[in-house]
Amino acid sequence: MDIKVNGHMHRIDADPDTPLLYVLRDELALNAAKYGCGLGQCGACTVLVDGAAVLSCVTPVMLIEGRSITTLEGLGGPDNPSPIQRAFIAEQAAQCGYCIPGMVMRAQALLARNVDAGEADIRRALQPNLCRCGTHMRIIKAVKRAADLMRANSAKGAI
Ligand code: FES
Ligand code: FES
Repeated sequence: MDIKVNGHMHRIDADPDTPLLYVLRDELALNAAKYGCGLGQCGACTVLVDGAAVLSCVTPVMLIEGRSITTLEGLGGPDNPSPIQRAFIAEQAAQCGYCIPGMVMRAQALLARNVDAGEADIRRALQPNLCRCGTHMRIIKAVKRAADLMRANSAKGAI
């Protein structure tokens, strides 16, 4: 089976019903998406499929063949962080950090479809994602800051 992740095609050797999360972590060494509950209840495993936030622990890999997957690694890295990554760093949103990749990806999906999302929209969008450290207020501030950065980039024509 061939899958497209972060703009690159990969040939994978996995049973069709293998959760996408296992393929990302175990076959492609993309370890940003985390295993939290494995039951679709915590959001730690959130990635984007065609731009929409998806819980990769309960998504069989056969369902995403031919679609475009983005993980946190695909947004940017230490040398070229994306606006949302810069915002999470600036607001020091992470405590243990385990939930943060999933939070970032779900927030990215929200801001990509509505960069003017307000606090109520952010809270609603992030509801499926849990943070056991309780850094929710800093996470919300980070998403607001990311929206500001994205709007500024858009105004400069550097989307
Ligand atoms: S690990 Fe996927 S929702 Fe918890
Ligand atoms: S920062 Fe620890 S679970 Fe969210």
